[in-house]
This record gives sequence, structure tokens and C-alpha cells, in this order.
Amino acid sequence: MQQKLKVQIKNLKKKYKNGDGVENINIDVYEGEFVTMLGPSGCGKTTILRALGGFLDVDEGDILIDNRPMNHLPPEKRPTAMVFQSYNLWPHMIVYDNLAFGLKLKKMAKEQIQIETQKALKLVNMEGYEKKYPTQLSGGQQQRIAIARALLLKPSVLLLDEPFSALDAKIRNQMREELKKIQEELNITVVFVTHDQKEAMALSHRVVVMNKGKIEQIGTPTEIYDYPATRYVASFIGEMNFIDGNDRTTIAVRPEDIVITKGGSTGEWNGCVSSIMILGHYAEVNIRTKDQIIKTYLTRAVADTIRVKDEVSLSFSKQCVYRA
Ligand SMILES: Nc1ncnc2c1ncn2[C@@H]1O[C@H](COP(=O)(O)OP(=O)(O)O)[C@@H](O)[C@H]1O
Ligand SMILES: [Mg+2]
Repeated sequence: MQQKLKVQIKNLKKKYKNGDGVENINIDVYEGEFVTMLGPSGCGKTTILRALGGFLDVDEGDILIDNRPMNHLPPEKRPTAMVFQSYNLWPHMIVYDNLAFGLKLKKMAKEQIQIETQKALKLVNMEGYEKKYPTQLSGGQQQRIAIARALLLKPSVLLLDEPFSALDAKIRNQMREELKKIQEELNITVVFVTHDQKEAMALSHRVVVMNKGKIEQIGTPTEIYDYPATRYVASFIGEMNFIDGNDRTTIAVRPEDIVITKGGSTGEWNGCVSSIMILGHYAEVNIRTKDQIIKTYLTRAVADTIRVKDEVSLSFSKQCVYRA
């Protein structure tokens, strides 16, 4: 199947006066794709998203949506809609008016606005809330309305900037699942921003891992987890042990990719069991080697055969090697 390009970001550069910003940004997003920019605070995620939405002039580079250049279009002329971390609903308007506002501007007929807002409320599980003021809603409910309002504009691309980070963990998980469902149902193209790697992995078709204004890797969650392109990605995504190898190399191995055997001399590395924590269906077992502590995740069956202070050998079923 030939995928259709929806968004193209080509050699984007934006530097603020103090020298911070982003450069060499190249991202393609396909129609119906959910792409997430992931990285720590300050790495430039919001800068790219705002450039996409038209809220920011860029220094260099091109942004195309459906092959149309966007650079000189203001936000309202772009086929995008943005959802922010803070819900940004108009506090003096009831939910219905918050939702209807953009449609009135588009001169949609009143009956049609009613139909569309009802559909949107249903989509985000907020039927019956149209007469409430934003302050009468919880954070999660307000963010549902903000998402509904964005979707009502029928954007070609939906942009979301850390939309769930102000919500508590349980609601956040629930909202993730709902967003994923809505995205699949509408087959809408989404560019999402988060600093939470679990959120990125759970939601996205592809993840753009960023560090200090640059892209480190673009790939599916599995590619990024299994084959981190750089040491930075290896340390940012999931749990990883870093072990000094020969010739100024570093070996990166995940706790679940370590195989242990009893006795201290059969594998390439050996050490002694320093702690065993049973965590439900698996165990976290730390091994002290000559130089460091290595974390392993073992099945209960394997963990039950060892005790603290046992000598063990380690081998790695999978590893990545990085050069200094
Ligand atoms: N308006 C601005 N003026 C100056 N520096 C800014 C401005 N906006 C963001 N920055 C800086 O640019 C860098 C990237 O910011 P941002 O894109 O907001 O990162 P993120 O969203 O990943 O946290 C940060 O170092 C931030 O301090
Ligand atoms: Mg940000």
C-alpha cells in the first residue's frame, strides 16, 4: 500500500535570541499516522509543534501539509488544530459555546452546529455536559472538551502538546486509550508531544526522539526500543545497563535480555547476586560485578533457583554497542 504523505518538515531551523531552539529537523508524517515527539523538557518539542501550527516564524526550512507550503500561513489558514497542556477553554462560556465558537466563525448553520457538537461530545464521552462552565469540570473533562473543540474544526492534522501531563496517572491512562481510539476511528493524522516515554510508546505509530534541539532517532516504538540508534536513546527509553567494553565501547543491554547461570565462570561476565525483588510475575535481580551493579529481570522460575550472594555468570541474548 502506497502511503500518502501528510506533513513534511524539511530542514527546519528556529533559534531564539539566546541561542536555544531546534535545527536540522526533518520529519515526514503519513496520512492517518500518529507521530509523537518525545524528549526531556527544553529539547524543542513545543517549538516544532508551534511552527507546524503557524504560531511561530521559522528561520529556515519548509513545512508542507498535503504538499502545500505552509510557512507564510497564519494558524487559522492552516489545516491544523492544536490542543495545549492547559485546557484553554473560554471560562465565561458554557461547553456548548466553547465548542460552537469556531463553527459559528465558519458560518455553519445553527442546526448543523447542534448536530456536530453532539457528535463531538459523544466522541469524547461528554454527552450531557453542554450547559456546564469549564470551572464545573475536572481537568480530564476539560481536556476532553478541548479535544472535541479541536476535532470540530475537522483539521487535516491534529496537534497535541502534552495534553495529559496535568492529569493524574489514572485519568491520564484512560485519556490515552480514548485518544488512541478516536484517532483510529477518525483515521486522523496526529502529531503529539510528550516527555513521557511510556505515553509515546503506547500511543504512537512512530516516535521522534529529541535531545537538545536535534532529532536523535525516528522509528516505531519497537525499533526504538530494540535498536536505539544512539547511546542517548538507549538511556532515555526503557531500562538499560551500560557496561564498559573493549576499545572505548559501551555495551547496552536491557535487564530482560540477560541470561544468568549459576556458578561464576561460564559466561563472559560474572558476579554475585546482591538483591532479589519479586515483582509479581517476574523478579528484579541485581548482580554485583567487579565494576558495577547490573540489573536483570528474570522469570519467577529462574529467580526461585538463586539466592543472594550466589555466584552467577551472565550472558546477553541481545545487546547494542556504542562507540565513544
Ligand atoms: N520564546 C522563547 N524565547 C527564548 N527561548 C525560548 C522560547 N521558547 C522556548 N525557548 C527555549 O527553547 C528551548 C526549546 O523549548 P521548547 O520548544 O519549549 O521545548 P520543550 O517543548 O521540548 O520543553 C528551551 O531551551 C527553551 O527555554
Ligand atoms: Mg513543551
